[in-house]
Amino acid sequence: MSNSDLDQKAKSILIENDQGGYTVPTKGLYPYQWNWDSVFVALGFATFDQDRAWREIEMLFQGQWRDGMVPHILFRKDDPSYFPGPSVWGTDGGPIPSSGHSQPPVAATVIRELVDADVTGQSLDRAAALFPKLMQWHRWFLAYRDPQDLGVIAVIHPWESGRDNLPDWDDALRAVEIADIGPYERKDTSHVDPAMRPQKADYDRYLSIMAACRAVQWDPAEVARTCPFFVADPGITFIFLRANRDLLSLAERLGRVAEASEIRGWIAKMESGAKTLWNEDLKAHVAFDERSGKLTDGISSAAFLALYAGIRDETTMASLQAHFDRIASKVRFLMPSYDPDHASYEPLRYWRGPIWAMINYMIARGFAEAGDTMRAERLRVDTASLIETGGFAEYFSPETGAGAGGGTFSWTSAIWLSWASPTHAEQAA
Ligand code: GLC
Repeated sequence: MSNSDLDQKAKSILIENDQGGYTVPTKGLYPYQWNWDSVFVALGFATFDQDRAWREIEMLFQGQWRDGMVPHILFRKDDPSYFPGPSVWGTDGGPIPSSGHSQPPVAATVIRELVDADVTGQSLDRAAALFPKLMQWHRWFLAYRDPQDLGVIAVIHPWESGRDNLPDWDDALRAVEIADIGPYERKDTSHVDPAMRPQKADYDRYLSIMAACRAVQWDPAEVARTCPFFVADPGITFIFLRANRDLLSLAERLGRVAEASEIRGWIAKMESGAKTLWNEDLKAHVAFDERSGKLTDGISSAAFLALYAGIRDETTMASLQAHFDRIASKVRFLMPSYDPDHASYEPLRYWRGPIWAMINYMIARGFAEAGDTMRAERLRVDTASLIETGGFAEYFSPETGAGAGGGTFSWTSAIWLSWASPTHAEQAA
């Protein structure tokens, strides 16, 4: 397919996955509105329909809970082809049936981008309407995912990280007692090859965490206090730190003085808190299990998001460049979700090795902003080649480039349109 054919295909995937204002990640495997998927999807829509891009994010925020959380899945209609559905979650926190935890908060960053890209200035009104909701969501993260004020954000479930099956969760997950789950039937393994999906022992524990949170009615303070899984995640921490910088820029433009000063405090706290995640042996930021007090021992693709978060001191920069080059010498395509030199690396099992286009996009932005345009461009070119050969797949093998997981994926299409496509790169040049 030529590049312009791929541009057309990417648009048609977004249009086909559109459910009337919100977009499913892919039909079949993921039939609902997912949080960070929708936000990346907005970037794709923005390349040809600004109004529709805003709509995507506005519909996501319609599901915001009374306590400020924006859930990871909104179950706008029941679909028996997905498990675990609304009855298993048993939540009651917001206006739309939903899951019980959140997902990486990329919204403030993308909203800022939509505002920056709009020369008419009309977008600022839409941003103004979303601003208080963003503030509430960010306050929720700080109150309930950093109750000890460490300056890092924890996840209460591997799914909250958006990087569901990452080796970093293994030890913390093993410590979760399997309880209150009863018999259940997974649906994911009927849509894609079970060899690429999490194993049953993991799934039992995913459901046990949900049962423990249901037992405290998903009360966020109680969840933070008692949840058997509570792991500070470099991915969500860096995405949140970055999002706060973008939220600050919005606050300044909107003249929200008090909020701007509140956000500056968050940024300062997180810049220093991020040091908690630094693994001196590995020379990279890793996950930190707040229940056991242990740092993990592997480098995930999120370590590279330090730059995207604006952490660009010499040590971090030099270490990440060295890791980047080492990993590039091991695999054909970048950036594998887990270090190919680690024993837990598996090129095709979800989040234990495969490449995601939107992660590449964020890592590349960080490198570009830090002045390393060479590595940023390498990521863009790799992402484009993966899509050219593997199609708009959910994820890709770093070794063969094969597309895997679900097909006709929304965020892969959106990242193609907004960043990876040579057409876009030429226009931006
Ligand atoms: C998987 C991914 C998660 C994503 C969802 C829908 O669960 O791990 O990040 O949001 O699929 O694409």
